Amino acid sequence: MIYGKIYYKGRVVEAGVEVEDGIIKKVGKEVKGKEVRGLILPAAIDVHVHFRDFNEKHKETIETGSLSALYGGVCLVVDQPNTNPVVDCYEVYDRRMKMAKKSSYVDYTLNLALTNKNAKNIGEIVKKIEKKYYLPAIGEVFTQHENDELQITYKTLKELSVSKLLTIHAEDPRFVGKGSPNFKYRLPKAEIEAVKKCLQIGKYHFCHISTIKALQMISKSNSTCEITPHHFLLSEDDFKRLDGLINVNPPLRSKDEVEKLLKNVGLAEVIASDHAPHTIEEKLNGSSGFPGVETLYPLILGLIVKNVLNLNTIEKLTKNPAKIFGFERYGDIEVGNYANLAIFDLKKVEKIDVEKLHSKANWTPYEGFDAVFPEKVFIRGVEALNTEVLVDKGFGKILECV
Ligand code: NCD
Ligand code: ZN
Repeated sequence: MIYGKIYYKGRVVEAGVEVEDGIIKKVGKEVKGKEVRGLILPAAIDVHVHFRDFNEKHKETIETGSLSALYGGVCLVVDQPNTNPVVDCYEVYDRRMKMAKKSSYVDYTLNLALTNKNAKNIGEIVKKIEKKYYLPAIGEVFTQHENDELQITYKTLKELSVSKLLTIHAEDPRFVGKGSPNFKYRLPKAEIEAVKKCLQIGKYHFCHISTIKALQMISKSNSTCEITPHHFLLSEDDFKRLDGLINVNPPLRSKDEVEKLLKNVGLAEVIASDHAPHTIEEKLNGSSGFPGVETLYPLILGLIVKNVLNLNTIEKLTKNPAKIFGFERYGDIEVGNYANLAIFDLKKVEKIDVEKLHSKANWTPYEGFDAVFPEKVFIRGVEALNTEVLVDKGFGKILECV
């Protein structure tokens, strides 16, 4: 299919990729194909996006969110269930997956929410969903939330008997106060204490870790975690620049903490965006969350070009999430996997410009940041993007059980 410089088995080699029915059949120097300029990388998996839709279409829809993902070189997203209505039962899960089947540009899967109402029969709900769909995880589970229904206690976590991966938004309510900017009220201690408690209870995947202490604790345990670009690139010092838009949960941290996180990105297994769009008006009224699915891979490549991160960091957006969440045929460029490829010209570093992005959020915390956007994206062997999008909505595949 194509030939060029390709990231294969952890190194850049010159080789061709042969594809049949969307699956990689062969990778090797002898494989002929259309020669491409730039670097052929595996397309990314973003394991933490909030595509809203349902009763919050004004913030984002599966259609607009997934379009934004495709422009950022993402081939598979894991959507989060804190929607309105919440994805807390089979019926809502099924309804949302059917919507995604019609409207997603990229491959799509969805986590199931854990609430105080469904905790008792969560095992049965999981079973029912898994008869039809591939369920990646339960979560994100909130240990702190302003909605009582979604705030889960450590006791509930302890008593839960379900053999399914849980992804946890770990902040301890004892150290979370109300107010804006929220970094003044949601202390680093909130995350550290919550992670400590959870690690005593079980093995989890922790969402958006923002403190070096929590990152170190998790890296020494059998749990895994993700970090987000905003937590290792932006800090409280961005308060003036971001003006009233700075709130995100967990909040941005001190410059010192952020520098430490950036130096220790290697300790996290996964980098995810936590794409959490709100309108600018809602943001100015205090809503927490940053859009980021489209800038995730481009920002990481911007840092790789500058040698701030090494090229293997891309495995935190490809191979590692596939392994942790069990996405068969996704992740690496490898024989037997889907031909999910993103081609980047690393010489084309550009400044992020909100006018060129596709989320409904219509703003970005990364305006002016260096980034490398994909020239082309192949999903299951189909050229889905070549500067412009070449597929229709609904092209994305929803993950069903096999
Ligand atoms: C998320 C959202 O808006 O859904 N917001 C955020 O600041 N990250 C929810 C969450 O993860 O807290
Ligand atoms: Zn969260």
